[in-house]
Amino acid sequence: MGKIAKITVHPEYKIGEVDKRLYGAFLEPIRSWVYGGIWNPKHPSADDLGFRKDVLDLVREFELPALRLPGGNWISGWDWKESIGPVEQRKCQLDLAWRQYEPNLVGHDEYVEFTKRANTEALYTLNLGTEDIKSAFHCLEYSLHPGGTYWSDLRRKYGHEQPYNIKTWCLGNETDGRFQIASWEKDPKGYGVRAHEVAKIVKWIDPECETVVCGSHSPDDIDTYPSWELEVLDQCYESVDHVAIHHYHSAPEGNIDVFLNASSSFEAFIKTTLASMDHMKAKKKSNRDMMISFDEYGCSFVKSEDPLYYYDFRRDHHGLFKKETVSRPFKLYDPGNYETDARRRMAIPMLEALGLSSVAMTLLRHADRVKIGCMTGFLRNGIAIDGNHVWKTPTYYAYEQLNKFGRGTSLLPAVNGPVYNIDQVRINSFTSRPSYENVQAIESAATHNEEKGEASIFFLNRDKSNDIPVELDLRGFEGYQVAEHTEMYTDDLNAANTYENQERIKPVLVNGTKMENGKVSTVAKKLSWNFIRLKK
Ligand code: AHR
Repeated sequence: MGKIAKITVHPEYKIGEVDKRLYGAFLEPIRSWVYGGIWNPKHPSADDLGFRKDVLDLVREFELPALRLPGGNWISGWDWKESIGPVEQRKCQLDLAWRQYEPNLVGHDEYVEFTKRANTEALYTLNLGTEDIKSAFHCLEYSLHPGGTYWSDLRRKYGHEQPYNIKTWCLGNETDGRFQIASWEKDPKGYGVRAHEVAKIVKWIDPECETVVCGSHSPDDIDTYPSWELEVLDQCYESVDHVAIHHYHSAPEGNIDVFLNASSSFEAFIKTTLASMDHMKAKKKSNRDMMISFDEYGCSFVKSEDPLYYYDFRRDHHGLFKKETVSRPFKLYDPGNYETDARRRMAIPMLEALGLSSVAMTLLRHADRVKIGCMTGFLRNGIAIDGNHVWKTPTYYAYEQLNKFGRGTSLLPAVNGPVYNIDQVRINSFTSRPSYENVQAIESAATHNEEKGEASIFFLNRDKSNDIPVELDLRGFEGYQVAEHTEMYTDDLNAANTYENQERIKPVLVNGTKMENGKVSTVAKKLSWNFIRLKK
């Protein structure tokens, strides 16, 4: 075994309070994610609304704190009014984002009801693409006002007596994207004004609500980053609370070093967005900090120029009308015919769990300013779903620990151990990942829940060949002892959890780990996820 990695965690190295919404998820009706995934009236477990109880049960068991829905690029062409009331009167719409038919069988009220039944908080996204201020106003009145007006009484008439408890409102989705329906790419000022006007309505109806304005949808492949959000914020700094950013970290298939260095690209994106927000704070002479809502993220391997990713072509400067994009026929997804999507098929479950945990730890290390984090497809990558079953993946287990124990105050761990260098790689014709030097093989995040007398230290070993001896310096935690140490590891990266064997890869207890003179010594196996919990 080689060089030791030292991790120093001290309760005084405080970053900020962890918002429960940091461990949220994102859901959009893409392919079978909704139609077949969470909803299938013919599924043996279907409830009165057609929701799959097997899915609901596992979401509840996980205690998912927040769910951003109903989209996504899809939201920018969706008319919420066509999705309420008796199902037979609802209109089928064309979804230009994913080249689907949207039958509106799951509509506005059902999405909110799903969050209620799943015991989670809805982070609702308004359409600021094709819909106007009036439509947003009516949606807010329908959803939040107790009654006595046309829209609020309509909600009651449709069986929802009480106003919805939605406290976070996202003002559009990736509105800077050239591929977005009714994009604001060329008019950030116009979008900023629109967002400001809608945010005013949100707060006039319920002053406790928070609003989320779109920043750049990606740091990677667009010319407008990061000046676009500056122009937006100039129009709405005082009425919005969070800037939404999204990032899908990707690596060429098989390149584990790049894949597991998700943290570097997320870190850079967060820092640039904070700089833009704080620049605007100074310009506006405001005394209020804006927060980041990282309300879509992912981590996946890609095959270069794989035609399956027709959507990626649209991010290309010339890709909007590429043959691969526009010749795909529109499709109606049958909930009874579940389709696994391509990215899912390419996923290596253990690596996916490590990559996504690296992202979650990055957000945690910015908990003072990143208040919302939503994993795209948690109801697919974390809670694995097919047409018949749901089961727990390695991602589920890692996030379960983060969600349960990564609470309280986020602490900044200092890591000093073996490092590695990463060469620049090209992902496709318009995206590449830069080179990095001296990346720490061990990545860590930590929290302290003073009230509960608990501290949590999470760390992963990104080294694909070597186990790393780890020495934790925890001398600041006087009176604490190790309550639990688990590691999640597999010697077969091709292994996966299945419905029949959900525990093939999961955290297992490491016996005998103890604190002596404020220090804990252990070994982090190559490509493993580790969690140490201290208790007073
Ligand atoms: O994969 C989900 C899509 O990615 C969302 O619709 C969009 O917001 C993002 O670009």
